Order: sequence, then C-alpha cells, then structure tokens
Amino acid sequence: MKASQIHQDLAKVLYTEEQIRRRVRELGEMISRDFEDEEVVLVGILKGAVVFFADLMREIKLPVAIDFMAISSYGSATKTSGVVRILKDLDKDITDKNVIIVEDIVDSGMSLSFLKENLRSRGAKTLKICVLLDKPERRRCPIEVDYCGFQIPDEFVVGYGLDYAEHYREIPLIGVLKPEIYGG
Ligand code: IMP
Ligand code: MG
Repeated sequence: MKASQIHQDLAKVLYTEEQIRRRVRELGEMISRDFEDEEVVLVGILKGAVVFFADLMREIKLPVAIDFMAISSYGSATKTSGVVRILKDLDKDITDKNVIIVEDIVDSGMSLSFLKENLRSRGAKTLKICVLLDKPERRRCPIEVDYCGFQIPDEFVVGYGLDYAEHYREIPLIGVLKPEIYGG
C-alpha cells in the first residue's frame, strides 16, 4: 500500500515510533529484571505480534529462545468470531521452561485465555503474558496480563504489526483506523 494512502486511512496517530521504542525498552528491562539470569522462551503469536516480538527480544538481556503459535479468532473482520483454533503449534516442548506469551493486543481476552490454559497444561515452569496493547473496556474473558505496553480506548488500531484485513502491518507507528474504512 502507498504511504499516502496509509495516512489518509488513519484518523489519528496513537503512538509514534519513538514512543513505542521507549516503552518496548522498558518492557524488556522489566522482564530482564524479573527473570535474572534464567532463560526465557518467548512465544510469539502470529502474525500481529511479529514486529513487537522482534523489537522486544532485542531488549531482553537474558538468554532467549523463541517459538511461535498461530491461532484464528478473527478472520478478516474487526469483531471476534468467538471460536479459537490452533493453526500452528509450538515446535518445541516447554516443560519446565520460563514461558512468556508475546501478543499484539488483548481485546475480548478470548485468545489469551485460550492460549494461557493451553500452555499451562504443558507443564511450563512459569507462564507470563506480555502484550503491547490492552483495550480493557472490551474484556469479556478476565485475563491477567503481566507486562503491558499501553492501555488504549475502544478504537480499532493498526500498524506496528497490527492489521485490518492484512493491510497496514508495515506502518512503523500505531494509529486509529478511520471507522469508514471498516464500516464501523
Ligand atoms: P481477543 O481474543 O478478542 O482478545 O482478540 C485479540 C486479537 O484480536 C488480537 O491478537 C488481534 O489480532 C485482534 N485485534 C483486536 N483488536 C484489534 C485492533 O484494534 N486492531 C487490530 N487487531 C485487533
Ligand atoms: Mg493477533
């Protein structure tokens, strides 16, 4: 998508590249402090978390192993379908590991509730959740988030990995999508 088109589609910028960079650094510092010299396994949730994941892993001053899962809960709409399905599972066993789920955003909480339950049953030593964004107003499944970048209002956001119908992931900042784009 052309850069000019992208900016026409945004109602406003929520967080600039610089604000995101600073906050991701702080999250990395918190995680590094909490786990001291232990290894952590970062589990990135495809695809929305990839940009955040790549930046976060470089701000963690610990031995890090990485793995990924993909689940479906949204399709290409802006409202959740209510069903969570595993599209891609972990490559490695997480028994006795310090696992941190890295997700782009927690909205209804359904995806993360499912993931936490699913990974808990595999015998991790510790299991934490790290999200870049949290929309607390939309929560339907209570879920405890251990590391959170920013709490945001109930608006549909794109950029820094987050998409609408697979568009806008490449924008380096986080912006609010104009509601007329998704018919909201
Ligand atoms: P939940 O299961 O409702 O918490 O949904 C979380 C998932 O919904 C995220 O991983 C995103 O893929 C998607 N999502 C929720 N809100 C937004 C948004 O504002 N922009 C882009 N994707 C979103
Ligand atoms: Mg997602």
